[in-house]
Amino acid sequence: MDDEGRVVVVSNRAPSIFTRPSAEERRSLPVGGLVSALRPFLEASGGIWMGWDGNSDGQEGATSTTITEVEGINLASVSLSRDEVRGFYDIFSNRTLWPILHGFPDKATISYDSYPVYRSVNRKYAASLIDLLKPSDLVWVQDYHLLPLGHELRKLGWTGKIGFFLHVPFPPPEIFGILPWARKLLTLLFDYDLVGLQTQKYVHNLQEALGDEFGAVLIADTVHYQGRTLTAHSFPVGADADAFREMTLSQAPTPVSRFLENSPKGRQLLIGVDRLDYTKGIIQRMQSIERLFDDHPELLGRVTLFQISAPSRVNIPEYAQERERLDSLVGKINGKFGEVHWMPIHPLHRSFSQQDLAHLYREADACLVTPLRDGMNLVAKEFIASQTSDPGVLVLSRFCGAAESMQDDALMVNPYDFQGTASAIYRALTMPRPERQRRWEALFEDVSRHTARAWCYSFAAALGDA
Ligand code: UDP
Ligand code: G6P
Repeated sequence: MDDEGRVVVVSNRAPSIFTRPSAEERRSLPVGGLVSALRPFLEASGGIWMGWDGNSDGQEGATSTTITEVEGINLASVSLSRDEVRGFYDIFSNRTLWPILHGFPDKATISYDSYPVYRSVNRKYAASLIDLLKPSDLVWVQDYHLLPLGHELRKLGWTGKIGFFLHVPFPPPEIFGILPWARKLLTLLFDYDLVGLQTQKYVHNLQEALGDEFGAVLIADTVHYQGRTLTAHSFPVGADADAFREMTLSQAPTPVSRFLENSPKGRQLLIGVDRLDYTKGIIQRMQSIERLFDDHPELLGRVTLFQISAPSRVNIPEYAQERERLDSLVGKINGKFGEVHWMPIHPLHRSFSQQDLAHLYREADACLVTPLRDGMNLVAKEFIASQTSDPGVLVLSRFCGAAESMQDDALMVNPYDFQGTASAIYRALTMPRPERQRRWEALFEDVSRHTARAWCYSFAAALGDA
């Protein structure tokens, strides 16, 4: 792609390749679906990716920006001060917006001090970006941290196209309306030429919220309000299926493959791969595992759950509490059922490379993707992309965006229903091969067609046409 029609992506966090991490640092690297989805596109397209460098040693309000090329991506970094990180990232983005957007109002903090910081940091992103832009650029803003960015760019005189994609759910209007800033935030969306969401249901929720707040009128898929328009569509994000396929087929040994080689024959492997986040339902998953062993003692010594819980937002109290609850529950279950030579749950509180994950996905008999609420969930799609012969089974929550396209062939569960989830896991472990093969083929067809790359190109094309 040449400079004409460059895509300029802005996200709160830039990929960690910025910091060129050491092997030790890789264990605690932040991970997440947003970076996984965008990185292959930016590598191929030669645009710019602007984001926070992940530190808190910047100067308040300072906006100087340099572009560095790292591993084929043009990165522009934003540095934030300690107070900016606290008000913008820790509090308003992750303790206010995150729980409300995921439908957990009880976990939401309403802090009148942090909203002005959220707005000023968005102004800072805009001021850092504006001088880097060329008139033909398409600006693509990512996620809830940067919802006001389009408005701030307009205030600085940018008249080119701006799109916004929300990676997380948009909740029903009565939940979104809990935010004292609900109406203001919705108004800011009118500055975008296109708003993308993960599913049709979230598009519907957003349109309803606009209707409730402004009495806005919906004509076709565009909302009209006092001469202004807002067009929202669903663009379900996909996984980098080809990369996972390639990594799966690579024979290079990983820590996971070495562990599996040393496991006794006939042992079955369940896996969970998540950021350690209360929305992921990891606690409820452990309760379902306890129920599974209570109901099926014949599985004792034969089935192990590998639970990767990658560290995430560790300075936020709700995340620290989740970690404590999880540790104590895993300790209780392992103490209840464990043997000298076998433990039911193998907890791993660190992040793994996607190469390691690909091998783990391939070896698993079932992958437990059971969030309480999730915008999409790429792990579900990566697991399917990584199966070879004798495929494993996907156990999937009905409350994630991935359910929209995967519900016919995954085993669907309500993660709050331990008994039902335990039964689905048992069914996955005992499913005859022809049925596993049939289900996987249907899912694989969908995952390999709707990839991360296809998602990026379809959003960029729709924004170009908007
Ligand atoms: N991931 C990773 N290493 C880990 C755990 C997860 O690279 O140890 C990646 C995983 O491959 C996936 C992303 O993090 O691409 C998680 O995305 P998902 O949509 O499932 O959830 P999110 O974290 O965005 O809420
Ligand atoms: C989710 C959010 C992303 C975020 C990622 C990791 O996927 O939708 O915007 O980047 O989690 O969270 P973090 O707070 O570490 O950036």
